[in-house]
Amino acid sequence: MNADSRTRLNQMPEWTALAKHREELGEVRLRDLFAADPGRGSGYTLEVGDLYVDFSKHLVTDETLRLLRELAAARDVFGLRDAMFRGEKINTTEKRAVLHTALRAPGDAVIEVDGENVVPKVHAVLDKMSAFADRVRSGEWTGHTGKRIKNVVNVGIGGSDLGPAMAYEALRAYTDRDLTVRFVSNVDGADLHEAVRDLDAAETLFIIASKTFTTIETITNATSARAWLLGELKAGQEAVARHFVALSTNAPKVEEFGIDTANMFEFWDWVGGRYSYDSAIGLSLMIAIGPDRFREMLDGFRTVDEHFRSAPAEANVPLLLGLLGIWYDNFHDAQSHAVLPYSHYLSRFTAYLQQLDMESNGKSVDRDGKEVDWQTGPVVWGTPGTNGQHAYYQLLHQGTKLIPADFIGFAEPVAELAPGLAAQHDLLMANFFAQTQALAFGKTPDEVRAEGVPEELVPHKTFKGNRPTTTILARELTPSVLGQLVALYEHKVFVQGAIWNIDSFDQWGVELGKVLAKRVEPALTEGAEVPGLDESTKTLVAKYRELRGR
Ligand code: F6P
Repeated sequence: MNADSRTRLNQMPEWTALAKHREELGEVRLRDLFAADPGRGSGYTLEVGDLYVDFSKHLVTDETLRLLRELAAARDVFGLRDAMFRGEKINTTEKRAVLHTALRAPGDAVIEVDGENVVPKVHAVLDKMSAFADRVRSGEWTGHTGKRIKNVVNVGIGGSDLGPAMAYEALRAYTDRDLTVRFVSNVDGADLHEAVRDLDAAETLFIIASKTFTTIETITNATSARAWLLGELKAGQEAVARHFVALSTNAPKVEEFGIDTANMFEFWDWVGGRYSYDSAIGLSLMIAIGPDRFREMLDGFRTVDEHFRSAPAEANVPLLLGLLGIWYDNFHDAQSHAVLPYSHYLSRFTAYLQQLDMESNGKSVDRDGKEVDWQTGPVVWGTPGTNGQHAYYQLLHQGTKLIPADFIGFAEPVAELAPGLAAQHDLLMANFFAQTQALAFGKTPDEVRAEGVPEELVPHKTFKGNRPTTTILARELTPSVLGQLVALYEHKVFVQGAIWNIDSFDQWGVELGKVLAKRVEPALTEGAEVPGLDESTKTLVAKYRELRGR
């Protein structure tokens, strides 16, 4: 960390300059900004890989962007970026390197952690995954009874679920349609029940995905899955080896569970859970789409890594997106950020980003352990368009809250759609473009009146506009483009964490609930007295037991 990180963010001259600029700008209007600069729609754009990024519909001027970049420079965002890429232990509270970028580094790269080049290990695991995925896909890997594997069930939670589940949905058009791939995460038994109820155990492979291999939800579900499998097959422990593989950093725990470590796909403590789906955690995805497509996805990640690492500040897309977020979060008091993909295949994308962003930047002390007195990560939310339009867009257009939004869309529908369905794509995308236009420019009272609307309805039909959006457009949702999108958001989150001076790579905030759940469970099951249980929880537990007839 450079010395600047010790200066309180909101005492820095660059911060003060932004606050002053915000005051001077006042209620800047997008209509005015576009009128003043006819080239704004083409000028306020950047490209990275296959992604075309339009940021013209933001409440910013050249001066705003310049001041934001100055803040980034003063916070030495690029210095921290370089430290991350070099493998320095920038996750200070856990004393770990942060090297998800090594997961997609080329084979000849050298990235050292504690003096060891980790790249050969990354490629060895990728090769092992590829060989295994090929064996499953070709039918060479069979279950205990000799039947071909037709079902793959990934059991994991958080980063060991959201990434592969999201990417599997995103890349469905690239998957082997003869395979059924499901994801079980919730400790609610209903999740596993629904995932396996119509499956033939003899044809089912369970992938137990857990970085720590101690996560209670995953180990509970894995244990139940094993019981289900052995019960269905009427087999003993010897059947486990053909039906269970593990993705983990913790070989002893994998072994203790009864999975042969030869069937364990390794990753390392320098891969954060929410940054891990391009590691061994992506095995279910790799089986679904095949090793070649998986590697194309990694290439996509790498394209954006290289860009983030080398593009100058003015052209650096993750930096820009991070800074725009800072502008709204810290200088407009925005509380949330919507991510609205106009692709049904990206139905889980925002859910994935919720962990990426909110587990990374939902912090209220800085790296020095001091309480921050500036806002940190926003609430990230959203679902695919056009469904959202008929649900919550009313609030985006006319509500009282400022909600910056990212619109993600594609020029081409996926190749596999029948011509009639592919023809619907223009309608989908017409909505995509119409929404950002409406959000930005709105409709003035005079425009409403000109339509002959009665005066009493004019306020109701007026759209103030000025709702900021980023548009991200690519030709097609391919494995590479998905990798590019994910890396873009990973680095955006990084930029914001660097500016807020928080550790974006720990997640202590999830621990207390885990500890308390462990403590409360005996009260539910045995009616045990739990010392220190508050009166509200005690009463609720008693009510629960009464309702369960205990
Ligand atoms: O509890 C939060 C968390 O630690 C996440 O950060 C992580 O992705 C998830 O749990 C699952 O952890 P694991 O992969 O170790 O089971």
